[in-house]
Amino acid sequence: MGEERGLTRIGVSLPSNLLNKFDTIIRGRGYSSRSEGIRDAIRAYIVEYEWMERESGEEIGTVTYLYDHDQRGLGDELTEVQHHFIGMIKSSTHIHLDKENCFEIIVTQGDAKKIKELAENIMSLKGVKHVKLTTTHGGI
Ligand code: NI
Repeated sequence: MGEERGLTRIGVSLPSNLLNKFDTIIRGRGYSSRSEGIRDAIRAYIVEYEWMERESGEEIGTVTYLYDHDQRGLGDELTEVQHHFIGMIKSSTHIHLDKENCFEIIVTQGDAKKIKELAENIMSLKGVKHVKLTTTHGGI
C-alpha cells in the first residue's frame, strides 16, 4: 500500500445492523478502535480490487452471491445479467437458503476482464448482499 500520510476525517452513514456486526467483528479481532478496523477493511477492499484489475487472459472462475428473495424484480435482473454473459457461463446453481435469502453459484470461463464485469454487474444490483469472485488459470 506504500506510505500513508496524514489523516482525513470522513462522515459515513451506515445501516445500524451493518455497523453493529462490524463492531462485533472488530471487537472480536482485538482492534483498539473502530477507525482502525475501517482503515483495514478499506485496505483489504483496495487490495482485492487491484488484484482483480491485474488479472487478464483466459480464466475459469466462480461468482457466488447471496440475495434478497423479496427484492422486487431482482430475480429477473439477475437472469438478464446472466443471459448477457451467456457464452461464458458454464453452469449455475440456485439454492433457496432460507425464507428471505437465495444463494447462487455461477461457474464461468472466459476473459478475466469479462468475468470481473459479470461480478460487478451482479454486485451493483439492489438486494444483492454479498458477492465473491474467484478465478484461476488453467494448466497450472
Ligand atoms: Ni431461491
